[in-house]
Amino acid sequence: MSEHSDIKTTPGGFHCTLCNVSLPNSASLDQHLKGKKHQTLSGVRATRKTQEDHSVFVGGINPDISQTDLAEYFQQFGSVADVIIDKDKGVYAIVQFSETDSIQAALSCIEHKLKGLKLRVKPREKKNFKLIPKKKNDPKNLQQVLDRLKPDLCQLVSVNAQMQHVVEQFQLGENEKNARSLLVQLMQEIFVEFFPDSQILPFGSSVNTFGIHSCDLDLFLDLENTKVFQAHAKSTTEQPGEGVSDDGRSEDSILSDIDLSTATPAEVLDLVAMILKRCVPSVHKVHVVSSARLPVVKFHHRELNLQGDITINNRLAVRNTRFLQLCSGIDERLRPLVYTIRYWAKQKQLAGNPSGSGPLLNNYALTLLIIFFLQNCEPPVLPTVDQLKDLACEEEECVIEGWNCTFPSQPIAVPPSKNTQQLCTLLAGFFSFYANFDFASSVISVREGRALPITDFLSQNKEDDALQQDQSTKTHQQRPKLGPLNLLDPFELSHNVAGNLNERCQRSFQRECQEAEKYCRSLQYQRKSTKGKSWGLVRLFSPDGEATPCKTGQLTISIPFKSASLPERLRDELHAAGDGFRLLWFQRVCSAVEEVLKNVLKCHLAPSKDAVFGEDSSISAEEMETTQASVISSLSDSFDGAEAQIEASPLGTVVIGGKRPLSSGSDASVSPQGKKPRMARRGKPELPAWMCMQKHVVWAGRRKVKRELIKDADSRPEGSCVELESQVTACIIEKEPELKEPLQFNVQPQMLGGTESTRAVLKLEPSSDKTGVFQDFFHFLEAFLPKMVETLKLMYDPGGHDICDPS
Ligand code: UTP
Repeated sequence: MSEHSDIKTTPGGFHCTLCNVSLPNSASLDQHLKGKKHQTLSGVRATRKTQEDHSVFVGGINPDISQTDLAEYFQQFGSVADVIIDKDKGVYAIVQFSETDSIQAALSCIEHKLKGLKLRVKPREKKNFKLIPKKKNDPKNLQQVLDRLKPDLCQLVSVNAQMQHVVEQFQLGENEKNARSLLVQLMQEIFVEFFPDSQILPFGSSVNTFGIHSCDLDLFLDLENTKVFQAHAKSTTEQPGEGVSDDGRSEDSILSDIDLSTATPAEVLDLVAMILKRCVPSVHKVHVVSSARLPVVKFHHRELNLQGDITINNRLAVRNTRFLQLCSGIDERLRPLVYTIRYWAKQKQLAGNPSGSGPLLNNYALTLLIIFFLQNCEPPVLPTVDQLKDLACEEEECVIEGWNCTFPSQPIAVPPSKNTQQLCTLLAGFFSFYANFDFASSVISVREGRALPITDFLSQNKEDDALQQDQSTKTHQQRPKLGPLNLLDPFELSHNVAGNLNERCQRSFQRECQEAEKYCRSLQYQRKSTKGKSWGLVRLFSPDGEATPCKTGQLTISIPFKSASLPERLRDELHAAGDGFRLLWFQRVCSAVEEVLKNVLKCHLAPSKDAVFGEDSSISAEEMETTQASVISSLSDSFDGAEAQIEASPLGTVVIGGKRPLSSGSDASVSPQGKKPRMARRGKPELPAWMCMQKHVVWAGRRKVKRELIKDADSRPEGSCVELESQVTACIIEKEPELKEPLQFNVQPQMLGGTESTRAVLKLEPSSDKTGVFQDFFHFLEAFLPKMVETLKLMYDPGGHDICDPS
């Protein structure tokens, strides 16, 4: 099937039927077709098709017939490439030949007999290849759960009662817990046979008090004692005449195949997988995932219908599970909050990556966000991890892999909270807290119970490292992987537990919190409906309340602040700018946008004083005010407390590059970080803006021109993708005729920050588009501009060159 037959044109752009995704324009379609998902699925489909075209269906076998029997039998019709037997019941098989001709030979044989059985040989059914979505997060399933919950929830008298009901409905029952614990016991008995003195310890949702019916069984196989055992056995067998270890176990076991002190995790896990497959009843679908952050063996337990994971380097997870258990014991409001927020997050598709990895929040991260909020309530509901450390006694001291993991073993050691807020208030508080949280400039520390400035983490200087708190116990100095949401693990301080989140998911999380915050202020949340309508949690959980997607048709290009991908030099500069880092970054973006438009795409730019965004523009006066206020306030907010360059002219014009500070506004309300919200300035400021003119279709056929330039060694520009792109534009201008009427458009940059995720937003507006090409140019710019700006912004160096790979 050709790629193009997968693509349908729709009123909103395109739809890829293979991957079931909608694409708004040809630029994103192009990117999608080259992307990993589409390429992988196309590959899988091609392989399946080849298999289908080369194989026959064989019925009438029984479990006594092996793959080899079938391969040997069908060899008479042609070379057999593969035989797959239906594993569950062993009643049918697929026989794949190397050549398609062999199929005809096999089908034309009137009777097939093997080991006294009459085989039925048929052509394969031709099935249309279809992407089957993973079931776990299937919105339909979630909707069914909600439909079942709804009537009961609506009957209850308060949101508090509804939250308790959610816990009762979802939590693991006693029988489930017992069954899991029996399985762990059985595994312990089996593993200890192969790995003497090993221990298998459950962690995660099965035991952290937040487990739900279908949750995974996470296990840690602790081989530390086995290593000691093996080392001891080795040293004793080196003495002649010794063949048996102290406790009488023969060293002629699985341990003689592997040296645990030198084996890689993948090698050990292969062995674990083999034991699971061969020795643990009802376990199937065993496979090793060595590419994960922590390599893991995955399995499924048929009878319990349970997905399980075994890791071997995860002592910290066992300890942080103990920490979650402790928090549950310290304050009983935590469990209903966690169950409610986890379900809300699942409904809104914010958390619970279907296959364990993905760009959504994982449940652990979400739970830590809730704990952090509770540490920041007034008065706090939960203590900080540092406070817990101080409450522990000497015997409770615990250091794992150099990280201090000390906390009391029993909740009784922790004084009760003075906070008396009800569950419904805390739930609303959670949404409000994160609706207004400044994610871009903060690193959340559950350890300290406060948001640390991101600039502390941008510096190269290791001595200054804000992470360096406890020299006596810490051995690592790696930095957390920064991203749009930075949430430090309470113990492994170099691990950002939300490091997998992408920009879009962080924005969705905050947008959904804002929606929920609004809803929690309404009477529908607070009061039971007397008319039997949905109220309280039911409406909160309902997917109808999903945040509205970005308005289509609004011609804006967003350039996000990506702390993770900043080069070291810029990180240092931003670090030095402190609170003013946003302004500095925005300045860089603005000059890069100008550079791309002017020098890379060869637009004619009018001086900014000619850039008029006034009465005759389609931007309304009101909108203009908002935009200006937002730029000025963002800029002045960034300026507060920093040596940034921004000047208010007597006419109220904001000039980037000046020296005189703007004073900040005042307001009594306080944001989660204790900062005052920003105020708009008086006066009517001008914005940095450009009026652009383009006479050529510089966006059309760029890829082809680029390919030719790269091929042609003589004209290839050296080392720089900016230079290459400039040359592509020059070639197009030289070869292609001019547009009949030049395209004219305005570009107005604006910076968003604070409670929004930090980003530069470029508003584009055509002022003259007689040839109707603006939409095409805009779609091209949507992908091209952020990419080039990033290259230029990152590489910007007055005396240097950019260093992007031209490919
Ligand atoms: P999950 O995110 O899977 O949480 O992490 P969960 O509570 O078990 O939820 P399910 O399984 O999705 O229902 C499982 C455990 O892995 C450890 C934590 O101990 C967590 O409880 N973990 C996870 C970490 O230590 N670090 C991480 O970044 C993520």
